Amino acid sequence: MTDFSSLMRIIKKHNPDEIYNLAAQSHVRVSFDLPQYTSEVVGLGVINLLEAVKLHNKNIKIYQASSSEMFGNSIDKDGFQREETPMRPVSPYGCAKVFAYNICNNYKNSYNMFISNGILFNHESPRRGITFVTNKVVKGAVDIKCGYKNSLYIGNRNATRDWGHAKDYVKAMWMILQLDKPDNFVCATGVSHSVQDLIEYTFSKLDLDWSHYIKQDIKYMRPEELNNLKGDSSKLQKATGWQPEYTFETMLDEMIDYWR
Ligand code: GDD
Repeated sequence: MTDFSSLMRIIKKHNPDEIYNLAAQSHVRVSFDLPQYTSEVVGLGVINLLEAVKLHNKNIKIYQASSSEMFGNSIDKDGFQREETPMRPVSPYGCAKVFAYNICNNYKNSYNMFISNGILFNHESPRRGITFVTNKVVKGAVDIKCGYKNSLYIGNRNATRDWGHAKDYVKAMWMILQLDKPDNFVCATGVSHSVQDLIEYTFSKLDLDWSHYIKQDIKYMRPEELNNLKGDSSKLQKATGWQPEYTFETMLDEMIDYWR
């Protein structure tokens, strides 16, 4: 994403119909340690992609992976975040994603390009990196169950997230690019759980008492935390018919089975 000539070369070589930009330094906590690098890849890198497409073939459709992290702690009165919710990011990663979101809209309007943003809330699967909280908790609990370790260090357990399954969300990405017109859509389940809920569900599935094993380490806390996320996907559902198939529980069951 930081190398314009490579992007240009690959786009010229393959001349794709659609590009899904999921490239990122995507770890929010890490973005506080690496703010410049994160901004270069997540923010400025998107200009490289947009310029390459604009110069080579403006008909290529672009999906930009925007994020619920862009909302920060801004919540509508009914407790949800949606397309119109003001964006007040609380991390370098979130700030860079807002820049990318805005520049995508700017190129769409200025150059009549097909560029859509999916504003995706957290999405997980067994393939999730183990430094993200879902797979960290699931793998940690299975390791404890198997006797490989006897504690798991975690940061803030009060934060809530709207966790969905990556399989459902990738379908939404594809559906967004099949629409007649480019637009921006929130993709979320509409159900929110705390990190504590995640811990309790996972440990109880393994017949473990979480309170014997979970410890706090401030190194996993963020300098500024995004406290609560819960998304309203009505616009996406209306435009595409998208519905998530997984629930929080079935998603975690799959992850627990995988690590077992
Ligand atoms: N990673 C991590 N590790 N998070 C922890 C821990 C821990 O030990 N303990 C508590 N948490 C809390 C975080 O503070 C945060 O509130 C929540 O668990 C979720 O953290 P992550 O799984 O790291 O995800 P995220 O919400 O910060 O970001 C993910 O979702 C975004 C969509 O909103 C990433 O996938 C981003 O790339 C994505 O844009």
